Amino acid sequence: MSFDVRPTRDADEFKAAFFGIGQYFGGHPPDERLQQWIDQLTLERMHAAFSDGAIVGGAGAFTFDMTVPGGDVPTGGVTVVGVYPTHRRRGVLRGLMRAQLDDIHERGEPMAALWASEETIYGRFGYGLASWCGEISLAHEYTAFAAHAEPSGTIRLVEPDEALKKLPAVYERVRLQWPGMFSRNRAWWEHREVDDPEGRRDGAGPKRWVVHERDGKIDGYAVYRHKPGWEEGSTSAELRVLEALGATDGALRDLWAYLLAIDWKAKVTSWLVPLGHPLFLLLATPRRLRFRMGDCLWVRLVDVGAALSARKYLEDGAIVLEVIDDFCPWNEGRWKVEDGRAKRTRTAAHVRVPASSLGSAYMGGVSFSELARAGRVEELKRGGLSRADALFRWDRHPWCPEIF
Ligand SMILES: CC(C)(COP(=O)(O)OP(=O)(O)OC[C@H]1O[C@@H](n2cnc3c(N)ncnc32)[C@H](O)[C@@H]1OP(=O)(O)O)[C@@H](O)C(=O)NCCC(=O)NCCS
Repeated sequence: MSFDVRPTRDADEFKAAFFGIGQYFGGHPPDERLQQWIDQLTLERMHAAFSDGAIVGGAGAFTFDMTVPGGDVPTGGVTVVGVYPTHRRRGVLRGLMRAQLDDIHERGEPMAALWASEETIYGRFGYGLASWCGEISLAHEYTAFAAHAEPSGTIRLVEPDEALKKLPAVYERVRLQWPGMFSRNRAWWEHREVDDPEGRRDGAGPKRWVVHERDGKIDGYAVYRHKPGWEEGSTSAELRVLEALGATDGALRDLWAYLLAIDWKAKVTSWLVPLGHPLFLLLATPRRLRFRMGDCLWVRLVDVGAALSARKYLEDGAIVLEVIDDFCPWNEGRWKVEDGRAKRTRTAAHVRVPASSLGSAYMGGVSFSELARAGRVEELKRGGLSRADALFRWDRHPWCPEIF
């Protein structure tokens, strides 16, 4: 089958390309919402695949910065990837990925990142599983903390208007602390965070916003919903935590103490909770979280030299990586990482690493040794793996608290 891939040129093309994912994830959005997608993604960052003049698939990429260990990197945030069921398994996705990664490269974005609908799709294009997160469902009777903690501030309910005005700066403060979090522009805050149409509530009530304040300054916030319910004369309500972020440990702790203590609920649920979240150690009975883990971010280094130079390393020392990258061959070869910079080298390599494994290790959430045990990295020089582990580790597991 022959087909062409190029960026969309007008709203009709965008709509048809978007319908690639719409075939599976809920059809066409209303016109107003589609326009928000066009404004946010832009026509030129939505690639469409054409067969005999008709669009048969699409793939988009947001323009944002993503926090990496000790740094912040312009990133193609890959989204709404879909191929019409009439044209599946004929290379349409491959064509879209080719055009999109070339485009990201030309734009000078060193990295691409995505959430995968299925773990089997993106490894072949050099994306690697970079972090883990999970769902929690905690019964009300198990919400006690292991130890009493003095509050570090106060909690106040705010209206959406105030949330829109004040919380973007708080989010930005938090996001620069966590590898995996991405920048949100004003439109993102308006349409994806604060806007709360009935159709997106999944049977629950409206979003409630609270802020955490210390010395009159907001240093954290939470957004949640109540899903009311009665059963046998008592509550079967669910408190759904959509996002709880603190710029300080105290703020995050106080926010969770507040959420867990709210009355008239049978359980608290949340999702996208990362490994290493303080909740696991705050609770007296963390086992009761019923944590179900899954893959979170997938990361692809589009420009290996620029990406490796953009993050920080906790240890001194040097390492030489031999990078294998069939899909983006400009990355192939030996790279020496030393003093926080990556340069091409002829020196013998310590480890051989395929692009997807380098994407996994880059954010610090997966070690080279773990990858080697799974046959995804090869040690070429004795001690190479532990050297790579020491350099690439980070003090927080990467966290992306929102699917984009
Ligand atoms: C996933 C999807 C985009 C694949 O599109 P496609 O055009 O059929 O894929 P291609 O024909 O280009 O396949 C490229 C390669 O990926 C493999 N592949 C594609 N989809 C796969 C899947 N779901 N699971 C495992 N392998 C898959 C193909 O077998 C092929 O392998 P090869 O390179 O070894 O030959 C399409 O099935 C789809 O739209 N699925 C539903 C929506 C979705 O899940 N989108 C992803 C959102 S993150």
